[in-house]
Amino acid sequence: MTVVGVIGAGMVGSSTAMRIGEAHLASRIGIVDVREGVARAMALDIGQALPSLGSDARVVAGWEGIEGAAVVVMTAGLPRGPGQSRADLLADNGRIVVDCCRQIRDRAPDSVVIVVTNPLDEMTSLAQRVLGFPATRVIGMAGTLDSARFRAFIAERLGVAPTSVVALTLGSHGETMVPVPRLCTVDGKPLPELLPAAEIEALVQRTRDGGAEIVRLLERGSAWWAPSAAILDLVRAIVCDERSVHPVCAMCRGQFGIRNTYVGVPARLGRAGVVEIVDPGLKPDEVAALRLAAEQVAARVADLGGVLGDDADERTSAPEAAEAQLRVGVRDLAYASRVRAAARRELARRGQLHRLEEVVQAALRRTGA
Ligand code: LAC
Repeated sequence: MTVVGVIGAGMVGSSTAMRIGEAHLASRIGIVDVREGVARAMALDIGQALPSLGSDARVVAGWEGIEGAAVVVMTAGLPRGPGQSRADLLADNGRIVVDCCRQIRDRAPDSVVIVVTNPLDEMTSLAQRVLGFPATRVIGMAGTLDSARFRAFIAERLGVAPTSVVALTLGSHGETMVPVPRLCTVDGKPLPELLPAAEIEALVQRTRDGGAEIVRLLERGSAWWAPSAAILDLVRAIVCDERSVHPVCAMCRGQFGIRNTYVGVPARLGRAGVVEIVDPGLKPDEVAALRLAAEQVAARVADLGGVLGDDADERTSAPEAAEAQLRVGVRDLAYASRVRAAARRELARRGQLHRLEEVVQAALRRTGA
């Protein structure tokens, strides 16, 4: 029996539950929402849709529905309003993630958790801290969605089938998203051979703003069809132990020079979560953009304790090792960015900016950071 839990019965959560049922990925789907009636209504509605679609999955509302789940998808949280950035949701959704993760930890202790709640990268870090699971079992869904949006925009611009476009976006699910046009192909041809740089940049920017474009049009709520399709890809990879590579928000432990910080990278996924983080052959400037995204995530994660106040400290009773590991990660990166900023100032003054990497690396080696 395979159980998949979905926390949040809003549009993203309920469309995810429906897709999982239709795709025959679970024998039981648990669906939870703070509005209990809504979770029950969705469990009934989806449960009544599945027989017509040839699926025998049972859909159960409430926390007992996720007992023993192999995968739990965390979608609960307030959606963005027009003009709101994902980061504006930090405090409100942080509290929701803390509450839900305590339940997930107790009821589905062996699960792989996919975080979808925004701001994605920070909520994934927070979830891992509260769950106390190995970081390989806590990932965030963003790159799969952003890559799908990039594919759709490229296909529309070139008038080709979206499925003939391969696209990759890394970094954070926000302003420091790092689409990698060099590794995008259309029918096997590299994108930079097909479009001028300025046009690629316009598509990249539209991808960064892809979620906001829909939020603006909807006026209330945010996208759900593309997010739930992207979530399904990850659930399938995990439940079926595919070992396929997907861009997800995953904990880096030295990969790309990023230490103990969550950021969007290509990861091989299987039943146990992240099998390995895969380097698609990034060039130094792409690695630099990825590191910048990671530094910003680390800085916002460091703010999170302050935003949540004592509430977070009291509720965040994760096993000490996991918490300590996150704190070390945040310190590492915050320290590294301070060293880098100081070195940049000093070298700029001396007109020796070309030595930046060498000086930063030497300083970090000296302090063992
Ligand atoms: C989006 C939300 C889910 O990008 O962040 O549509």
